[in-house]
Formats: sequence, C-alpha cells, structure tokens
Amino acid sequence: MRSIAIINQKGGSGKTTTAVNLAAALGENDRRVLVVDMDPQASATHWFGIRNPGRGITDLIITQLRLLDLVRATEVAGVAIVPASAWLSGAEKTMAWDGASLTMFQRSVQALPRGQWDYMLVDCPPSLGILTANALIGVTEVLIPVEAHHMALPGVDRVMASVETLKKHLNEKLEVTGVLACRVDHRTRHSREVVQELRSRYGNLVFTTEVHENVRLAEAPAAGLPINLYDRLSRGARDYRDLANEIMGQES
Ligand SMILES: Nc1ncnc2c1ncn2[C@@H]1O[C@H](COP(=O)(O)OP(=O)(O)OP(=O)(O)O)[C@@H](O)[C@H]1O
Ligand SMILES: [Mg+2]
Repeated sequence: MRSIAIINQKGGSGKTTTAVNLAAALGENDRRVLVVDMDPQASATHWFGIRNPGRGITDLIITQLRLLDLVRATEVAGVAIVPASAWLSGAEKTMAWDGASLTMFQRSVQALPRGQWDYMLVDCPPSLGILTANALIGVTEVLIPVEAHHMALPGVDRVMASVETLKKHLNEKLEVTGVLACRVDHRTRHSREVVQELRSRYGNLVFTTEVHENVRLAEAPAAGLPINLYDRLSRGARDYRDLANEIMGQES
C-alpha cells in the first residue's frame, strides 16, 4: 500500500479537493483507496456524505480503537474512509509532543491488514501541529497542493523544511511524491507566473498535471459527490484523472 499525506499549512490550498477527487479517480481505475480524514473540520467526511460519523478517527486517540474498526464504506467505487469529526480538535489538545502521541497513527497503520488497500490518502488540517505530525510519521509519501497564487509560494518552503526535519528525526522513509499546482488559471499572467516559479524552484518534484480553476470542483462538495460522479466531463474531472494516471505511472 502506498501511503500519501496531503499537506500544506496554508488554508484553502486544495488539500481536501485533492484527497477526495484523487481517491475517486484512483477508484475509477479499480484501485482500492482508504481516505483518512485527519482534519477536525471534517471536510472530506462531509464531501463523501457520511452522516453520523461518530467520533471517527478521534477514537484512535481517546478509546484506542483500531483504525480498521473506524473504516466506513462510501458510495464511491473503490473508496473507503476513516471519518473525522469536531471531536478531533478537543482530542488534539490532549496530545503531548511525546513519542507515544506522535507515533499513534503510525502504529495504527502498521496494524492494518496487509493487501486490503492500494493507497491510503490522508487529508491533513491547515497546520503543522500534532495531527499533521502524526500523518507525516505514519506515511511514506507527501503530496503538497499549492494554490497558484504568489502568497502561497513561501509556504511551500516551510512545508519542505518540515518534511526534511521529520525525515531526519522521526521517519526516514518520508519522501515528497509531488507538488501539485491547484486552481491554475492560464488566462491570468499572475497564475502562469506562479506555476513557472514552482517549476523553476522545485523542478521534477512538480507534477506535470495541473489542476485548473473549475467551478464544478467548488460545487461538488454540496452535491456530496466527487467530481468524476458530479460532472465526469468537466475540466476538474479530467485534471484529477490525469493526476491519478501520473501517480499510478510512478509505479512502473
Ligand atoms: N481547482 C479548483 N477550482 C475551483 N475551486 C477550487 C479548486 N480547488 C479548490 N477549490 C475551492 O477552494 C476552497 C479550498 O479548497 P479545499 O477545501 O480543497 O482546500 P484545503 O486546503 O483542504 O482547505 P483547508 O486548509 O481549510 O482544509 C474550497 O472552497 C474549494 O471548493
Ligand atoms: Mg481541507
């Protein structure tokens, strides 16, 4: 199983949009995907239309249930989810920056049955706090969505630095799988410049695929459907299909 944390401490970067729609696009290719919602905002959980999520992943922290016990089916082919809930922000405050708290998620991932999922995608909150640290210690790959806006660029260096620190001290297997330009609008020079700057700074780490600004992507959460089911011919659906292909292509 490939395990990928989707992180960027900047709010509104496209993390949840990427987690949900990449999962659905991989599912379309007969891949089995487990989405883990690590964000107290529970946006991915809502997007998949999970009602009564219970405490979701918070139960890892407060009742020490197994991750497998928290997995819920979704309506989307190939995709299951460990939901989040607002409970998570309270539980986060009880967690200390010690070995036991930091490795809680990693231990729960190691206890998952082997071979059940091809991918685990972890949707992280917009901070580099202890929940994101748990995600980064429990996975081997990081995907960094970046909104195509100048303000977003300095944040990418900070994410890279955090990943390096974690790799050095707590998870030597961690690698950046890719930086993903999101909300790209080629009609504006500004947006084109930001994508160019990303490519010159991070080179091959930047995915060839760019996710364009697409209103259908912004509408899809309210419909409770990933973009491939909401509007399969939309630009957003094509972009996430391309991303899924690029990610699967990394395996050959
Ligand atoms: N390609 C896109 N085209 C149009 N709207 C988009 C696109 N990607 C994301 N959005 C919109 O931008 C907003 C932020 O996106 P999203 O929720 O995916 O970011 P996030 O990084 O998960 O945010 P948070 O940090 O709050 O968790 C949402 O309203 C979403 O619908
Ligand atoms: Mg989000």
